[in-house]
Amino acid sequence: MNRRNEILNEMGLAPIWKLRSIQEQPEQKAESIALMDWAQLKEKVSGCTDCKLRPGCTQTVFGVGDEKADWLLVGEAPGAEEDRLGEPFVGQAGKLLDNMLAAIDLGRGSNVYIANVLKCRPPGNRNPEPDEVAKCSPHLLRQIGLIQPKLILAMGRFAAQTLLGTDATIASLRGRLHRYAGVPLIVTYHPAYLLRNLPDKSKAWADLLFAKKTIAG
Ligand code: URA
Repeated sequence: MNRRNEILNEMGLAPIWKLRSIQEQPEQKAESIALMDWAQLKEKVSGCTDCKLRPGCTQTVFGVGDEKADWLLVGEAPGAEEDRLGEPFVGQAGKLLDNMLAAIDLGRGSNVYIANVLKCRPPGNRNPEPDEVAKCSPHLLRQIGLIQPKLILAMGRFAAQTLLGTDATIASLRGRLHRYAGVPLIVTYHPAYLLRNLPDKSKAWADLLFAKKTIAG
């Protein structure tokens, strides 16, 4: 015991209780995000500094579309164009996504909501890191809770693995009906992957038809 504590002890003033940090712990943060309404959630995301990505990006990319949509499409993270414009899937991959949606008579904003696992662009489009996914995914989970979609289309490894809590591959998760919090979830390839692997487009098309059939009941 140091001299100060000895004196305090003799005076009957020990032990000294230190004030706990008033900063929220990660679980408390996730709990408070889970109770937010749309306005609170948008404000939380736009001012978010929970992980190391925010200082390196231009702006946060919250999500876009019909907040009461039946379809929720989930990607990975904003790229350069999304970071510049503040909207998900507006680059090359986004054009392909728009064309695929049009082919099943859907469009962004009409009965469709599009969001990413990460709301900030990782530098140089690198893969999201586990701590970034852990800190950002409560925002996506709250978006799902608020939208209450009829179907989630998880596009790519990060969306599928985050929502299903697995490290299984896309190939092994495709073609089956999964659920996230009771909501039917279908896994498909990420549009950016399809741009580099054209033969897999037919598999993504099959996934979309499966999703359409599932939502029709
Ligand atoms: N890739 C994604 O996963 N999301 C975007 O918004 C753009 C590209």
